[in-house]
Amino acid sequence: MALKGISYPSPFPNNFLFGTASSSYQFEGAAFADGKGPSNWDIFTHKSGNILDGSNGDRAVDHYRLYLDDIDLMENLGIEPFVTLTHYDIPQELEERYGAWLSPEIRSDFEHYADVCFKYFGKRVKYWVTLNEPNVMAIRGYRSGIYPPSRCSGSYGKCNKGNSEKEPLIAAHNMILSHAKAVNIYRTRYQEEQEGNIGIVMNAIWYEPFSNSTEDKLAAERAQSFFLNWFLDPIIFGKYPEEMRRLLGTMLPVFSKKELEIMSNNRLDFIGINHYTSFYSKDCIYSYCDPEAPGVTKSEGYYLRTALRGGALIGEPTAVDWIFVHPQGMEKIVTYIKDRYNNTPMFITENGLGTMSELNTSINHFINDFKRVEYMRSYLDSLAIAIRKGADVRGYFAWSLLDNFEWLSGFTIRFGLYHVDLGTLKRTQKYSGTWYKEFIETSRGVRGSLST
Ligand code: NOJ
Repeated sequence: MALKGISYPSPFPNNFLFGTASSSYQFEGAAFADGKGPSNWDIFTHKSGNILDGSNGDRAVDHYRLYLDDIDLMENLGIEPFVTLTHYDIPQELEERYGAWLSPEIRSDFEHYADVCFKYFGKRVKYWVTLNEPNVMAIRGYRSGIYPPSRCSGSYGKCNKGNSEKEPLIAAHNMILSHAKAVNIYRTRYQEEQEGNIGIVMNAIWYEPFSNSTEDKLAAERAQSFFLNWFLDPIIFGKYPEEMRRLLGTMLPVFSKKELEIMSNNRLDFIGINHYTSFYSKDCIYSYCDPEAPGVTKSEGYYLRTALRGGALIGEPTAVDWIFVHPQGMEKIVTYIKDRYNNTPMFITENGLGTMSELNTSINHFINDFKRVEYMRSYLDSLAIAIRKGADVRGYFAWSLLDNFEWLSGFTIRFGLYHVDLGTLKRTQKYSGTWYKEFIETSRGVRGSLST
């Protein structure tokens, strides 16, 4: 049976966790309440020209005040909380004091912060995530510079700041070691008593080779290495991917013996995967590629990332310029991670579709979000195939519970299963919310909520 004719996905295993995801800066608001100091995103969004509609997260969708109502909405789906320690925003003070992720000093500060969280909340939280999308933080914060701290490097785009191409690599290195320290504290001080799990969440794109040529297949492999494996390989195997070591040589930071020891004693309990889209990747070592396109420089792995091949897009374009609907990518990326990382347990920590938030549009337009439902159904179906073929995926979280502040796009894009009226803040369930709830009820899974 299915609500209004969009069928439910294929069955999922017993105890599979279904839920929704959210994040503090995008949801909470109360940016300066109760003694909270400014974050890097508070400073960034207040600079004119940074956010498409000139908005910021000062109020966001006021979850800080309306949290009890929102928890009711989450409870509608059941609740097993997953908590992320850092979802892009960090105290601005760290930026000013020592350059935040660029400095090794951040590792012990992150460790201390994690320790405090485990100590006070660990009895109630059984799933911890150290970092959300460190790959996106490193690339957008330190290479393209479109996220704070707005440091662009190398020859990227029109960047003329002359920052070293090493910066994204250094920031990533400090993120990896901060993660490792947090995991170590959890394992040594809390895990036995609290009986929880700890992992990391990566943004994962499926890179389809542009052609059948060996060069393009290798380019797709490099694309994964310079985006995903960049973090997961050192965390899981204790070394950067072979492609990165070969191309970057001494540009890549090195792990000390002691750091490697901490890392090898603190492997992941699970890998979180935020997956939305796929791209083609084309070789840029042997073939000519536009040097200004993402991916083409040495420090990015020499591949051209493109959605277009022979005049056709890899999937239907959407209101979000980087999301193309290519559900097969879900099965492929999950299988890729399964094979590379010995079937470490996985959660799909984000998946969803953003739609345009046009002004003066009737609420019905937003509520009848059939495209979102079709997107979710097709991606869930593809996920179910990967699971049937043996991938150990234990849960799926839809991004997002509510419409919210979508970073550079401000409030112009809506991802919620619930519509939020940006004037009154009233939450109204969309068709996708009803469909998802009924699908969960008809399947045997339990449900969860990822708050970051
Ligand atoms: C991933 C990020 O974690 C989340 O903050 C963002 O809103 C979604 N992608 C959609 O862009």
